[in-house]
Amino acid sequence: MSATPIVVLVSGTGSLLQALIDASLDPAYGVQVAAVGADRAGTLGQARAEAAGIPTFVCRVADFPSRADWDAALADTITAYRPVFVVSAGFMKLLGPATLAAHTVVNTHPALLPSFPGAHAVRDALAYGVTVTGTTCHLVDAGVDTGPIIEQHAVAIEPGDTEASLHERIKVVERSMLVDVVGRLARHRFTVTGRKVTIP
Ligand code: GAR
Repeated sequence: MSATPIVVLVSGTGSLLQALIDASLDPAYGVQVAAVGADRAGTLGQARAEAAGIPTFVCRVADFPSRADWDAALADTITAYRPVFVVSAGFMKLLGPATLAAHTVVNTHPALLPSFPGAHAVRDALAYGVTVTGTTCHLVDAGVDTGPIIEQHAVAIEPGDTEASLHERIKVVERSMLVDVVGRLARHRFTVTGRKVTIP
């Protein structure tokens, strides 16, 4: 069976993307990263894709008259690469209705949803004083980190943790979770019934 094409969206350093690129070098993994998109120019994520010979594109909100125009352009740009699904791997923009209507999007989040949604999940978990946080892989819907959950892993908070130290430990777990989930989705596809995601 040929590899399943995916598009990966990034905003920053792209260590999750790198884990997917590395895994996809093994044909048995069953994933081809067809393109990497970013919401701003000059990200390390984009550089990682270029170093791996993967096509990249940048779609900046500021380059469009409205958020809806940006959303439509992003949807069309992704479509051009014919992905079976899209992975939001540290993409820090909310996706709009055009993109979500055209594409199934898998997101990874650095907290145990529904706790601590949004852009500052690690900081918010530390500030709240929880002793366990973690990471969640879920499908994206119209809400902020509210879509059906695919997989979650817990990470204990240690005395003296800072946002940076905790986020690094979460990302270690997050990378292996994302590689595992994306590979299984690509090889087996999936069904969604209500909030339950089943990968055969
Ligand atoms: C990851 O922890 C990801 O969950 C988070 O950004 C980081 C990206 O790391 N995404 C969000 O917080 C989205 N709400 P990376 O750039 O090293 O791959």
